[in-house]
Amino acid sequence: MILSLIPVIAIDGPSASGKGTVAALVAEQLKFHYLDSGAIYRVAALAALRTGISLEDESALSRMAGKLDVSFKNGEIWLAGECVSMDARSEATGNAASKIAALPKLRLALLDFQRSFLGHPGLVADGRDMGSVVFPDATVKIFLTASAEIRADRRYKQLIEKGIHANLSRILQDLQQRDARDRERSVAPLQKCADASLLDTDSLTITDAVNEVIGRYQALRA
Ligand code: DC
Repeated sequence: MILSLIPVIAIDGPSASGKGTVAALVAEQLKFHYLDSGAIYRVAALAALRTGISLEDESALSRMAGKLDVSFKNGEIWLAGECVSMDARSEATGNAASKIAALPKLRLALLDFQRSFLGHPGLVADGRDMGSVVFPDATVKIFLTASAEIRADRRYKQLIEKGIHANLSRILQDLQQRDARDRERSVAPLQKCADASLLDTDSLTITDAVNEVIGRYQALRA
C-alpha cells in the first residue's frame, strides 16, 4: 500500500451504518480534519431541488455542483451562507442525493472539492467511495456496516428521540432501496474495495467502533 504523506482514514459504508458518528469521533480524538462527503452530495441535491434543476439533468447538475458554495462550521452545513443542516439531513434530501450520486459527471465535478479537505495532521473521510476513488492511497480503508434491520432500528430510535414521528418498516424499506441504488450504480458503487477491512458494528457500541478504527490505523502506522 502507498502511504500518502498526510494520513487518511477512509471509512465507507451504507446509510445509517453509524459511520458518520464513528468517523467524526475518530477525527475528534486524533485531531484530524473530517470530510462528510455524504453531506456534500446532500447539499448538491438540496441546491438542485431549490433551484428546480431536474434530478436527471446531468449536465446542469454537474455545472451547479462545480460551483457549489458549501461549507461546514461547528457541525453545521452551510449553503451560500445559509445554515441548511435540517433540510440537508432530511430523508427527502437523502433520497434525492442518492439519485444524483449515480451520475458520473456530477461525481467528477465534486472530486477536487472533496480532496481539498486533505490537510495536516490528517483526514478522516466518510462516504461510499473514499477508499476506492477519492483517496485511493488512504493509509487505512474501512468498510463499516451493519445489517439493514439494525441500521433501520438505530435510525428509528434517533428519530423518536428527536420527537419525530417514524415508521420502522418504512425506514427499513427506504434503507434497502437506497442501498440497492448505491450498490447497483455503474460509477463508484457502494462496495468494499479489496484493500479495505470490514468492520461489522451489529454488536458494537459506538465507543467500541471508534476504538477499533483508531486501533487499525495505529497498527498500520506503527
Ligand atoms: O452518507 P449519506 O446518507 O449522507 O449520503 C447521502 C447519499 O449520497 C447516499 O445515498 C449516497 C451518496 N453518496 C455517494 O454516492 N458517495 C459518497 N462518497 C457519499 C454519499
